[in-house]
Amino acid sequence: MAELFDGQVAVITGAGRGLGKEEAVDLAAHGARVVINEVDLPAAREAAEETAEQIRADGGEALVVLGDCADSTDAAALMEQTLATFGDLNIMVNNAGFLRDKTIFGMSDEEFDSVVRVHLRGHFVNMRNATAYWRNKAKAGELEYGRLISTSSEAVLYGSAGQPNYAAAKAGIIAMTMGAAQLMQRYGVSCNVIMPRAETDMTNSGPTADMFKAPETGFHYFDPANVAPLVSYLASPNASHISGEVFIVWGDEVSVLERPKVLPAHKNPEGAQTWSQAGLHKSLSTHFDQDYRSVRDGFSMPID
Ligand SMILES: NC(=O)c1ccc[n+]([C@@H]2O[C@H](COP(=O)([O-])OP(=O)(O)OC[C@H]3O[C@@H](n4cnc5c(N)ncnc54)[C@H](O)[C@@H]3O)[C@@H](O)[C@H]2O)c1
Repeated sequence: MAELFDGQVAVITGAGRGLGKEEAVDLAAHGARVVINEVDLPAAREAAEETAEQIRADGGEALVVLGDCADSTDAAALMEQTLATFGDLNIMVNNAGFLRDKTIFGMSDEEFDSVVRVHLRGHFVNMRNATAYWRNKAKAGELEYGRLISTSSEAVLYGSAGQPNYAAAKAGIIAMTMGAAQLMQRYGVSCNVIMPRAETDMTNSGPTADMFKAPETGFHYFDPANVAPLVSYLASPNASHISGEVFIVWGDEVSVLERPKVLPAHKNPEGAQTWSQAGLHKSLSTHFDQDYRSVRDGFSMPID
């Protein structure tokens, strides 16, 4: 089979470990030249170099650029080093992040800010830099290829009682990516979101850790390598017509999210005037009857 990529240049944030690593390896295996961004800490540095070595050993091209994905100066340096080394940027995969789980009533400002910063701001600065680069190239008539892939989470869909910082940031990432998809459509740049599930450092502790463990035999549904092919697909020419979409991906499944549906409006039964409490109660009771339960106690995923 022909390679998906003809030397296109892909940046993946947080690509030393976990999902980002598998995404970088898969993109490189399909012919992309990859830039591995990792935070500049000893273990992350080592992990980034190992990912790059693995790619090179398999005949691919890889560059490591250390730096905080949410820092404007580091993100600018990431662009500069990518362009200086490979001469272009075609695929931007925002992936990096970490957790600081707490309930809403127990969370500190620092726990909230740091998680929103690394995920939402981390997506923002790199999305801004990549889209500005592609827009400028398009205006000069030189844009050949642009793909943006964001990483959200099913925590957005099911609520996440222990992750108010993370769930909010991941919801913001979808909103931001949808806006980028609208703006970049005219330049032929696609922007999509994945919601992965995988066994990584992020999920190997806590109440759901056992669920992610590899089985003794058979297919490991939560191997992060199961997520990477969808990222390569969305980054590839085959998916040029797919943009503004959200995908759940894990194991042998890819699910496409429907857009949120607004039900028919309740009209004021008292006519065209400001709602009275009695009017609201009468009207909304047709939807929320006494047996209606919209919120259940507990975690976002079922735990036996
Ligand atoms: N694993 C899952 O089941 C799951 C589910 C939903 C969403 N996600 C998302 O997938 C993405 C990857 O997570 P993972 O599970 O592979 O976790 P992971 O911890 O294995 O990988 C995250 C990587 O990001 C790097 N990183 C952290 N802060 C950084 C920073 N400031 N700058 C650059 N790099 C930084 C880490 O060093 C690490 O290598 C995250 O955005 C995560 O929220 C994961």
